Amino acid sequence: MAASSSFVAIVTLAFLLFFMGSTNAQLSTNFYSSSCPKLLSTVQSTVKSAISKEARMGASLLRLFFHDCFVNGCDGSILLDDTSNFIGEKNAAPNRNSARGFEVIDNIKSAVEKVCPGVVSCADILAISARDSVVTLGGPNWNVKLGRRDSKTASQAAANTSIPPPTSNLNQLISRFNSLGLSTRDMVALAGSHTIGQARCTSFRARIYNETNIDRSFAQTRQSNCPRTTGSGDNNLAPLDILTPTKFDSNYYKNLIQNKGLLHSDQQLFNGGSTDSIVRTYSNNQNTFNSDFAAAMIKMGDISPLTGSNGEIRKNCRKLN
Ligand code: HEM
Ligand SMILES: *[C@@H]1O[C@H](CO)[C@@H](O)[C@H](O)[C@H]1NC(C)=O
Ligand SMILES: *[C@@H]1O[C@H](CO)[C@@H](O)[C@H](O)[C@H]1NC(C)=O
Repeated sequence: MAASSSFVAIVTLAFLLFFMGSTNAQLSTNFYSSSCPKLLSTVQSTVKSAISKEARMGASLLRLFFHDCFVNGCDGSILLDDTSNFIGEKNAAPNRNSARGFEVIDNIKSAVEKVCPGVVSCADILAISARDSVVTLGGPNWNVKLGRRDSKTASQAAANTSIPPPTSNLNQLISRFNSLGLSTRDMVALAGSHTIGQARCTSFRARIYNETNIDRSFAQTRQSNCPRTTGSGDNNLAPLDILTPTKFDSNYYKNLIQNKGLLHSDQQLFNGGSTDSIVRTYSNNQNTFNSDFAAAMIKMGDISPLTGSNGEIRKNCRKLN
């Protein structure tokens, strides 16, 4: 008797410690269902109207969530503006002249504040906007876990080092994602986000002029709007998916198989290494890609959120209360 009750006590304690230790214990899909029942419809209508004006905005909003989550967790830190005594993440190397969509997030936040003031975090607005962007552009749907709170800090240094650069090789990509609890397969699925959106010449110049694992005519096409010389045409844009640049589908992987990945990091996923087979699977199985992508987005959204009484619910996503 004594032995079995102490066994029960140990198991109970183990469970308690497990749930206390897991930082996302409080995220749930119904977090705002009574405090802000109109939240999801409010976000969705603003996202849809932004995308109807400019399809690329869906890509930009999806990327903001990624760049938020990879820097000390999904805590809205990317949204904070620099001030004279505060250095945020917007001018970090991966974001400067590149991250966009902040005005749309402001519009969503204003609309949400109208229906339920002071209730919904900017971090959660990013998570919902990313999902709505994917759905609006034809990708999979999933239930977004909510209950994140907003950071009171940001880190330009962490943004510089935590977000993988396009020069990354396969091992670097795998280890960066693994260090955040995302598997190699999650990484390949999440990179499928590059089925939408655009990149600047400066992000792919070295690849289109110097690399050999690239389709010749594809390289020439991209060279026509991206001059070889650094400093000229740096901000000229090209679609990440040459086939269907504003549709969320699995054509990104078809491109990789043809050596038409735009970024060096894209082509790393299909370059004779361990991820080739995953790329092949996704390239001819849209349903597998869709379900793996949705599952990986939920995992990415679980990265170190602030919950409970940590952080705050910002009134304005650009600044601390
Ligand atoms: C695997 C590692 C990744 C690398 C190295 C990478 C790198 C990049 C780069 C360099 C750009 C172009 C930026 C520019 O030239 O201004 C870009 C764009 C983009 N990335 Fe990634 N990315 C990665 C993973 C992801 C993930 C996981 C997501 C989302 C879950 C994502 C979503 C996007 C989107 C949607 C765009 C287009 C944004 C727009 O048009 O505004 N990327 N990425
Ligand atoms: C981050 O990178 C940018 C651009 O390379 C650089 O100007 C800045 O000093 C870096 N910031 C930190 C804190 O490392
Ligand atoms: C191509 O590689 C050469 C030799 O490493 C380098 O000097 C040159 O800057 C590279 N060109 C581009 C466009 O990256």
